[in-house]
Amino acid sequence: MRISAIITTKRLRLRNWLASDVASYRKHCNTAAVMEYLGGAVPPRSVRAEVMRYQWHQAKYGFTYWAVERKRDNALLGFSGIIVVPEAGSPLRGKLEIGWRIRADKWRRGYAYEASAAVIEWAGWEHPEEPLYARIHKDNAASQALARKLGMRRARALEAMQAKVDAELLVFKLTL
Ligand SMILES: CC(C)(COP(=O)(O)OP(=O)(O)OC[C@H]1O[C@@H](n2cnc3c(N)ncnc32)[C@H](O)[C@@H]1OP(=O)(O)O)[C@@H](O)C(=O)NCCC(=O)NCCS
Repeated sequence: MRISAIITTKRLRLRNWLASDVASYRKHCNTAAVMEYLGGAVPPRSVRAEVMRYQWHQAKYGFTYWAVERKRDNALLGFSGIIVVPEAGSPLRGKLEIGWRIRADKWRRGYAYEASAAVIEWAGWEHPEEPLYARIHKDNAASQALARKLGMRRARALEAMQAKVDAELLVFKLTL
């Protein structure tokens, strides 16, 4: 089954999730390498629940962490997109968080940047008043470098508040 893309770039399609994505997403993205700074790989049933959460978020808000698919062969690469931060105790609760995840065998080909730059452009049109945030583990050098390349900068005041909840996370911000 094919569905319309929300965003297209030169090489990629960002689209809503299909139930048929779960197996591929589980195989390629629920790995030790991809999940290194995200608490490690999760049980298989949690991956299905995660995909369902992204589908639910799309239905509720009109955006989500979209599936990133390569146009050339329809391969599922991971996700990029935006969610509303849900955690009750977080200083970012209710704010927009941009996120990215790409399967490890496709790293360093510019896919995360290409997808996430397009997400930022989309947000600039659809939610121009709202800054984008990203919480990134202090040792996750790749993700921090990507955030900087996308124009994000550390939000020190929020980071100090965040540290009371989880001191391992840095907070980045982009004002659109
Ligand atoms: C972070 C991640 C999404 C980057 O994906 P990617 O497709 O390999 O990234 P790109 O090829 O688009 O690289 C874009 C920029 O990110 C930075 N970057 C990517 N990988 C890097 C690495 N291993 N070390 C340092 N910088 C890196 C660079 O600034 C790069 O720009 P450059 O190529 O001009 O140097 C990927 O490593 C990933 O999925 N990691 C696991 C999941 C994760 O940690 N998500 C973030 C949670 S906060």
